[in-house]
Amino acid sequence: MKWRALALAAAVVCSGFGTGIREQTLREAAAGSGILIGTAVRPLRLSESAYASTLAREFNMVEPEDALKWEVVHPGWESFDFSQADQVVDFAIRHNMKIRGHTLVWHQQNPSWLTRGKYTPSELAEILEKHIKTVVGHYRGKVFAWDVVNEAYDELHPGQLRSTIWRDQPGIEAAASYEPRASSNQVRSELGARSPQQTYSYIERCFHWAHEADPLALLFYNEAEAETVNPKSDAIFAMVRDFRQRGVPIDGVGFQMHITNLHADVASISANIGRFTALGIQVHITEMDVALPLYVNGNPRPEDLRHQADIYRQIAAACLSHPGCTAIQTWGFTDKYSWIGSHSKRTQGAALPFDRNYRAKPAYEALRNALEAGRR
Ligand code: XIL
Repeated sequence: MKWRALALAAAVVCSGFGTGIREQTLREAAAGSGILIGTAVRPLRLSESAYASTLAREFNMVEPEDALKWEVVHPGWESFDFSQADQVVDFAIRHNMKIRGHTLVWHQQNPSWLTRGKYTPSELAEILEKHIKTVVGHYRGKVFAWDVVNEAYDELHPGQLRSTIWRDQPGIEAAASYEPRASSNQVRSELGARSPQQTYSYIERCFHWAHEADPLALLFYNEAEAETVNPKSDAIFAMVRDFRQRGVPIDGVGFQMHITNLHADVASISANIGRFTALGIQVHITEMDVALPLYVNGNPRPEDLRHQADIYRQIAAACLSHPGCTAIQTWGFTDKYSWIGSHSKRTQGAALPFDRNYRAKPAYEALRNALEAGRR
């Protein structure tokens, strides 16, 4: 209540010569509802004034879109380059925004020295531990939450872990000197009985390394297409429950929320958020966008913009209805800069709350209304 009063007061003061109370920004509405509202950021665009001013005005959390991925931050075996991510972090600190880190372990956007290196499991484990500890250590006390592992589960074989350099090509599981820190003999023997293809001990190790580097940072497992109750989210649920039972330091799960075909099963998304938060962890919506088909001149249809707004509103409301769902983040904020264009070979776009000219779309109003209505 106090926050909302402050936000409203700020809105009145900031309205300057206006006659009435202006509408709240997203970050004012989010503060009133006790939730974080974030977005992915491209450091090269921070010098564009409309980009920087919209970002600072509307959001209270940022996440570098690509700047913390291995190919950018760890370009050579011995070299780390934090220059791009540091720009985002400095901007966030100047504008009183929280910072999420993305991502320490992924199968994509890795440098060729790593993917073509033909390392043994022990060498790979050493490289990964050093990477995690160096990157998390660099931002210790600044990045409040990390996506430690991203997209470890497979699309094609629901419920199974994906083959990656980290898991089984050659993977780090076979590296010497690691015993899962089981709290009971029973768990230990269950893990032992699993086939190597099914273990997730490599994921577990990453969480321990990240925790050692910054014990106060919140550590997340982040995933695509696990938003609803489905075989992939079932497998993640079982893993997270097991981690919690055995004291593996995991604090949350990120659901990416890249929506396509204007379809979102909101009831199932809400049930899924409910079961994960019931484990005592937080849920963040980490990469939301709602891709629209593009027609003449590359524009979406007005009815699709309205439908898109509904989806933003419903998903924000679903998150807000669970106290453990503590952040909503969009994957960029202006249609001028969004991964959807290249990802869909220009057939889709217009996925974000602001258009290419930084004008608020129906999706923006919908998101703000949901944030205002979701006070808790
Ligand atoms: C995307 C970025 O937006 C693009 O700029 C980049 O070229 C490819 O990666 N899931 C994730 C994100 O976890 O890191 C991806 O980001 C989008 C899908």
